[in-house]
Amino acid sequence: MKVKTTSLAIALALTTVAGGTWAAAKDEPIQALQAAKVTNPAKVELGKKLFFDPRLSKSGFISCNSCHNLSMGGSDNLKTSIGHNWQQGPINAPTVLNSSLAVAQFWDGRAPDLKAQAGGPIANPGEMAFTHELAVDVLQSIPGYVAEFKSVYGSARIDIDKVTDAIAAFEETLVTPNSPFDKWLMGDEKALNARELAGYKLFKDSGCVACHNGPAVGGTSFQKMGIVEPYKAKSPAEGRVAVTGKDEDRFKFKVPTLRNVELTYPYFHDGEAATLEQAVDVMGRLQLGRKYSGEEVGQIVAFLKTLTGDQPLFTVPLLPPSSNSTPRPTPFD
Ligand code: HEC
Ligand code: HEC
Repeated sequence: MKVKTTSLAIALALTTVAGGTWAAAKDEPIQALQAAKVTNPAKVELGKKLFFDPRLSKSGFISCNSCHNLSMGGSDNLKTSIGHNWQQGPINAPTVLNSSLAVAQFWDGRAPDLKAQAGGPIANPGEMAFTHELAVDVLQSIPGYVAEFKSVYGSARIDIDKVTDAIAAFEETLVTPNSPFDKWLMGDEKALNARELAGYKLFKDSGCVACHNGPAVGGTSFQKMGIVEPYKAKSPAEGRVAVTGKDEDRFKFKVPTLRNVELTYPYFHDGEAATLEQAVDVMGRLQLGRKYSGEEVGQIVAFLKTLTGDQPLFTVPLLPPSSNSTPRPTPFD
């Protein structure tokens, strides 16, 4: 393989350390996911209700789950999302599964954590199009919520801080352990077949792990999209530079998690790669200067599909009914 850039050289150096012989599981650049430990089940339950409650939107129709559908890998499987009034979103919705493991939230990392992130969509005119004040007014007018906030936070006064805190607590439970790859990492040699293993070896030895590493197989850094070859995007999103203002951060995006990637199509920040095969081919060429054969792409894809873990399973939350004084939704303005 030809080393073409400095960052690539670093990438390859990292891979050499991790690659080569089949190391003991604990030495792999990817670690097994641990099931979430729930310390405050009542808060998680409240956060789950809020995640599913469309009354946090102006239309009364869009919930977090509309765009991060937990029946579909925590994503909407659309190129870019549909927001209030059927507005076309500017960017692909990343999965909320395992997002608690990421260094920061959003493609450009503008929110430091899940709590800071959760206020964003409610007040985003292109998403739920509400305001924090109105969302809190709605919740405060619903006796079932008032009682639940009181029991979780010790006070019947609801505010946006508590709302985002509860949503974040729920999201922290959305981890997906026990994938075939995790079983292999823990020593179950039969958990992967020969083709999947060949795919992992290729993934590791060709340098994908320089960016896609850690328990989430991503989410640990911001990296340029298009290192060896530029990425031709139609979307105006410029990535990390929007946060740091530094020119060197232009077109750097948070490396997405590859956990459950089989479920979270289409791919990339603009959703332009419809299939996993396409995404792997683009990554090989643009990030590593490597053109994989059809067979090699197939092997890597077979490996990536072993990253699908246990999806969060729970009873659909029953939301407390609105009261006569609850402000009514305004879906068409
Ligand atoms: C209209 C669709 C839509 C709705 C509704 C929505 N989101 Fe998102 N969400 C997105 C999009 C698009 C992004 C990526 C935006 C970006 O990176 O600039 C995103 C990003 C995120 C992320 C960051 C994930 C990551 O890997 O960076 C989290 C977490 C998240 N949303 C949670 C929520 C929560 C909680 C709610 C409800 C309060 C919500 N979303 C409502 C579309 C939506
Ligand atoms: C230099 C860092 C880097 C390397 C090396 C790299 N990736 Fe990526 N990968 C990224 C970034 C950054 C993105 C997001 C790009 C975007 O959305 O514009 C990404 C996105 C992806 C996606 C799409 C995920 C999604 O949810 O949208 C897949 C699949 C993927 N990479 C697989 C690979 C494979 C396979 C390799 C090795 C051939 C690889 N990557 C090598 C940084 C890297």
